[in-house]
Amino acid sequence: MFSFNEISKSYKGRADSTTCLALSNVTFDVRDGEFLCLIGPSGCGKSTLLNIMAGFDRPSSGNALFRGSQIEDPGPDRTVIFQDYGLYPWLTVEENVGFALNAKSLSKQERRQIIARLVDFVRLNGFEDRFPDELSGGMRQRVSLAREPGACAGA
Ligand SMILES: Nc1ncnc2c1ncn2[C@@H]1O[C@H](COP(=O)(O)OP(=O)(O)O)[C@@H](O)[C@H]1O
Ligand SMILES: [Mg+2]
Repeated sequence: MFSFNEISKSYKGRADSTTCLALSNVTFDVRDGEFLCLIGPSGCGKSTLLNIMAGFDRPSSGNALFRGSQIEDPGPDRTVIFQDYGLYPWLTVEENVGFALNAKSLSKQERRQIIARLVDFVRLNGFEDRFPDELSGGMRQRVSLAREPGACAGA
């Protein structure tokens, strides 16, 4: 599914001409359905690698392929669940889930149905009117999961 070959990434310093080598010749494959854990000390390059997999950033050198194509941009085929849930605290569960649907031209009824399916998908039925600070961490994570474009596309 992912094929990374000799990936290196260096960041330029803001003020001077120094560079920071965050990844050096990283090579690995991830097969369909496989779970991969990246474990390492803070600053070792985990997020840099994930950002390249997601298409948020590009490697300085090497080949980063997803299903045989060069990764150039983010896409709904590669969902990222962030450490920070990124929920809108002033919106309820239902409104947070529905927010991503505003970009689509849907009738009120279609929108309601999709939201209901997504809320059901992440087992948050009965919590539709709660605000994020009234939920557990796991529940917040599930609201954020329901908001992902991949979840919306599947709904
Ligand atoms: N945007 C950036 N600009 C400059 N240096 C960065 C940037 N992002 C990360 N780094 C540096 O790259 C290295 C790897 O960072 P990162 O991938 O965030 O590590 P991890 O997620 O494993 O904690 C660190 O030394 C960090 O300071
Ligand atoms: Mg990190």
